Amino acid sequence: MDFFSYQNEHLHAEQCSVADLASTYGTPLYVYSRATIERHWKAFDKAAGERPHLICYAVKANSNLAVLNIMARMGSGFDIVSGGELARVIEAGGDPSKVVFSGVAKTEAEIADALNHGIHCFNVESEPELDRISRVAQSLGKQAPISLRINPDIDAGTHPYISTGLKENKFGIAIERALEAYAYAASLPGLKLVGVDCHIGSQLTEISPFVEAIDKLLALIDQLAEQGIVIEHLDVGGGLGVNYDDEVPPEPADYASALAERLGDRKLKLLFEPGRAIMANAGILVSKVEFLKMSESKNFAIVDAAMNDLLRPALYSAWQRIVPVINKPELAMASYDVVGPVCETGDFLGKDRELAIEPNDYIAVRSAGAYGFTMSSNYNSRCRAAEIMVDGDKAHLVREREVLASLWAGETLLPEG
Ligand code: LLP
Repeated sequence: MDFFSYQNEHLHAEQCSVADLASTYGTPLYVYSRATIERHWKAFDKAAGERPHLICYAVKANSNLAVLNIMARMGSGFDIVSGGELARVIEAGGDPSKVVFSGVAKTEAEIADALNHGIHCFNVESEPELDRISRVAQSLGKQAPISLRINPDIDAGTHPYISTGLKENKFGIAIERALEAYAYAASLPGLKLVGVDCHIGSQLTEISPFVEAIDKLLALIDQLAEQGIVIEHLDVGGGLGVNYDDEVPPEPADYASALAERLGDRKLKLLFEPGRAIMANAGILVSKVEFLKMSESKNFAIVDAAMNDLLRPALYSAWQRIVPVINKPELAMASYDVVGPVCETGDFLGKDRELAIEPNDYIAVRSAGAYGFTMSSNYNSRCRAAEIMVDGDKAHLVREREVLASLWAGETLLPEG
């Protein structure tokens, strides 16, 4: 459930008219709903129930400081994949002791910085990374809390580009080597073993792959206990899908209770790393129709947002709902490919969409709160969009639209001659 709805044929974000926001702040424009973010985060928190748990919001889904600050105020933890994301979390008022650090190639500087901030845990993805983290921790006179990301070799049944738990993916340590890797980690002086983690993919719409993965990890945790390695937490990663079209993903409550059932009476703390499930349907991308280009074979709605603003359709052939910001029942429906101004055939936001629109109308791409702005770029020297956070009947500009000079900030000309 989200807080975007039509009131008298006008799309609203909570109590704010989206058309008014677009004319005030210009387009392309990302609009987020605070109430939706809070509702989704709390659904996870409630689903985890009485069991000790930490929700580590996956910063990569949407790293705007206002978004992170809303999570921080609710007591959220964070899943980060770079020093930049850690800096954002701290800047937004997040608690570093609730941060888990994932990613296959953390640099020595990033590791040192994270240790100095006292993060909760490093999610380690390979044996050489164990050596690196131990070495850096020792040089700082510290012990790094670590978890090993286990690759359970499970088909998450999602798009190949966002599937991460198969043997052929670059992520994690193969489950067959896990015991050996833990024994090795236990022998390194700079490490303290605290967890086991996995993340098998994103946009999962079934519970069964999660359960299959958890069963494999619990068996591993039991084997580790037999060897005297006591694990404090199980981090189940992110990946819970959302409704873009007609998918019916599990509710956080059903997902969490399926996991809790497998855990039984083990005294493990549960960590979750949701990104999309919290943010996707908490945001929209608003764009203006520039031209309608009609032809015998195809109609194009050329809009002012492009693949540089929202890459998912171009990169994954992702389908996201496109709706008019104001419904105009008097207009005839037609089928359009909704495309942007970027000079690439792959620059589309949606194909074959039935829309009743005319030039200068606003349209909204739904479910754009996750992996929207964070994956945007300046391709074609386009300024990145502004971002708005709606809170009830108030709208806050939480990121200004980029200006032309920001496009070449840091660039220099060659000396004369
Ligand atoms: N934890 C780890 C270690 C991850 O790699 C990811 C996402 C998450 C948590 C959060 O997963 P989520 O709950 O959002 O599914 N750009 C793609 C999605 C890439 C996801 C990468 N990892 C997209 O737009 O669909």
